[in-house]
Amino acid sequence: NQTAARELVERHIATIPDFPEPGIVFRDLTPVFADGPAFHTLSESLTAPFAGEFDVLAGVEARGFLLAAAASALCGAGVLPVRKAGKLPREVLREEYALEYGTAALEVHVDALPAGSRVLIVDDVLATGGTVGAAARLVQRAGWHVAGISVAVELDDLGGRAALVEEFGDEFRVFSLLQY
Ligand code: PRP
Ligand code: ADE
Repeated sequence: NQTAARELVERHIATIPDFPEPGIVFRDLTPVFADGPAFHTLSESLTAPFAGEFDVLAGVEARGFLLAAAASALCGAGVLPVRKAGKLPREVLREEYALEYGTAALEVHVDALPAGSRVLIVDDVLATGGTVGAAARLVQRAGWHVAGISVAVELDDLGGRAALVEEFGDEFRVFSLLQY
């Protein structure tokens, strides 16, 4: 159940002040990944709210890769790697975005999935929403459907959820296991 999952995962999250820059409170999930039961529970809990609603899990490089891959092995869905710019070898779509500490660009192969594929976007942290917002724009531009956004940790003060509603309205649901 979700309360037990929350407690197990939360116990393994490390909080580091002033990383990678002064003023940022960094939520580090590497201890979750290092603990078998916590990682398994988190991977299950990210897809459970969207059961039957997606065909593929999109994982955002780099930490989202771990979660998408683990969740995919548990639920049987494929993985769409959403990569940092310049890594994918064939024709890509690119979206630039701002995040809590800087800017970046994400890419997907234009022909990675069949038209109309239902894609659940997963990541570790929702901060400003720049990252998953860019991933959602890529999914839509490629002709696929955003089934939802699912993250382990949502940083409430950074307004990511409001930014996603502002841009996408109520087109898809945003789930977070833990909120800070
Ligand atoms: C982190 C995190 C999310 C993003 C959240 O990734 O894994 O993807 O920031 O921030 P936002 O909501 O403000 O966009 P980062 O770009 O640091 O890369 P990494 O996964 O390669 O560590
Ligand atoms: N990505 C963006 N902001 C973050 C934070 N405060 N902790 C961990 N990952 C992040």
